[in-house]
Amino acid sequence: MDETYKTVKQSQTTLTELMIPSYSNFGGKVHGGVVLGLMDKVAYACAAKHAGNYCVTVSIDTVNFLAPVEVGELVSLLASVNYVGRSSMVIGIRVQTENIKTQEIKHTNSSYFTMVAMGEDFLPAQVPGLILQDHLQVKRFYEAFHRKELKRYYDQQHHEINNEAELAEAIELISKERCKIELKSVDA
Ligand SMILES: CC(C)(COP(=O)(O)OP(=O)(O)OC[C@H]1O[C@@H](n2cnc3c(N)ncnc32)[C@H](O)[C@@H]1OP(=O)(O)O)[C@@H](O)C(=O)NCCC(=O)NCCS
Repeated sequence: MDETYKTVKQSQTTLTELMIPSYSNFGGKVHGGVVLGLMDKVAYACAAKHAGNYCVTVSIDTVNFLAPVEVGELVSLLASVNYVGRSSMVIGIRVQTENIKTQEIKHTNSSYFTMVAMGEDFLPAQVPGLILQDHLQVKRFYEAFHRKELKRYYDQQHHEINNEAELAEAIELISKERCKIELKSVDA
């Protein structure tokens, strides 16, 4: 079977939404969860366009909120496929707000969502390859590939506590942190 390939442009997606008062938290700013929900939505639309299939979110990279989103602002989420594996796709998302009166544009956060295409049999399905047409697309593909390698390394290094000796070592290490260790006996 011939491999199919698609350009980045074919699935690039922008979602714009007005921030209404019901989206606000007690401080009058927009809830982080509202923005995360919109990010998931645009990631899905972009991934499904590339895959031509139903997709699921499998992982979300760190999301740093760089600036608050205000009620009354227009939020735009720009999504594009940065990387594809066999069934997985890394979708890069940039979130920016526009003040309707001043037209000031603010970059509030960016993140990478990993989406997996699912076939009719509900198993991961192969997605088209990606045609990289400029240096920015090559840079994004390489950086996503590199993050995947780093994640694999991190998973190998990640340390779980499995026995009493490791627990004692952990207690020693965290004892200078801002916690009080007041272990209660099992019978107490
Ligand atoms: C997505 C899912 C089907 C993958 O299942 P799996 O048994 O890991 O399947 P595979 O091992 O074939 O992996 C499929 C792809 O997902 C990728 N993947 C799996 N877990 C991943 C993770 N934590 N981070 C990044 N990629 C991941 C694999 O690398 C693989 O990519 P590739 O095909 O491009 O090489 C399964 O984890 C799932 O159903 N998760 C729940 C998704 C969901 O419901 N999301 C909505 C939450 S509300």
